[in-house]
Amino acid sequence: MPIEPAALARAISLLQTGEIVAFPTETVYGLGADAASPAAVGKIFAAKGRPADHPLIVHLASADDLEQWAIEVPELARKLAAAFWPGPLTLILKRAAWVPLAVTGGQPTIGLRVPAHPLALALLHAFARAGGGAGGKCGIAAPSANRFGRISPTEAAHVRAELGERVPLILDGGPCTIGIESTILDLSRLASVGARVLRPGHITPEQIAAVSGALPAVAPGSAAPPRVSGSLAAHYAPHTPLRLVSTPQVQQAIDEARASGRRCAVLCHSRLPDTAAASISQRLADQPAEYAEGLYSALRRLDNLAADLIIVEAPPAAPAWAAIADRLQRAARGAGRQGE
Ligand code: TXA
Ligand code: MG
Repeated sequence: MPIEPAALARAISLLQTGEIVAFPTETVYGLGADAASPAAVGKIFAAKGRPADHPLIVHLASADDLEQWAIEVPELARKLAAAFWPGPLTLILKRAAWVPLAVTGGQPTIGLRVPAHPLALALLHAFARAGGGAGGKCGIAAPSANRFGRISPTEAAHVRAELGERVPLILDGGPCTIGIESTILDLSRLASVGARVLRPGHITPEQIAAVSGALPAVAPGSAAPPRVSGSLAAHYAPHTPLRLVSTPQVQQAIDEARASGRRCAVLCHSRLPDTAAASISQRLADQPAEYAEGLYSALRRLDNLAADLIIVEAPPAAPAWAAIADRLQRAARGAGRQGE
């Protein structure tokens, strides 16, 4: 999609004046603000309805800006940045002393990443050219551009549906190609506990190990600080109750729902027997990258059908599906709850 210079200019002027702007990344759409301005960051929390103690990811134009935001940056962080940035990997590092506590949720650490979407990069570079916000720090804080606890948006129209007039500008960069949020890797306590994946994503522990020489621990949902809002059980959730069932049980789950008079929507990835196939609302690819790309927009569409239940065929147990399984499990736990 071509970048519209007028929209980009408007985005920069909003960011420079402490306003919020939604923009595409390769993972999901983000709700951005000048990360060096506590007042601007406060508007993100207000628009999302997100608790103030949940830290945000700061997006940078390049790995050269790492030292502005983080201290005691380990060599491994630089190696991983060189290997995966721009791209869907967020590094948790010790924060620089000046970083507003509003961004880090009061924690001594900060999440940083360089996104790969051309419009996100254009925005970050233009922001830097325009002065880079308060103190010229050039970072854009951006959580996913959804209401707190809900499905992340992967199209501009999703952001409009989630946030409506709460956001003055949504930059439209088309559908996100990765489709699920970045892998979060905690390097802030490398010496004591090693590298830990706090949120699985497109970049796998094996890919990280190929650079670091050792598999990181996978500790999503870990109760120990730092906390990750994406690690809350109820997250990425549709309004409609969602049930994850193994492939052989899909038919039975459909029959049970029907028998109890409930209308169900069914999301699958494999070719099911004809009896079940007649009830399929949407079939996603049986390859994890393509499945992830389509997942959130499929969930959003099925949620909008106002069925009584969404039945999802559980993904394969293979490691390549781990990030998808993580999101679906959280969606199943959080679905149908209000006010999270
Ligand atoms: O792909 C992504 O990461 C997207 C795009 C917009 O970049 N962003 C995103 O942001 O998913 P959000 O806020 O929805 O999720 C960011 C996660 C949260 O779970 C947050 O708790 C965690 O990153 N996080 C941020 N800073 C952290 C820190 N200092 N320590 C631990 N977790 C942190
Ligand atoms: Mg989010």
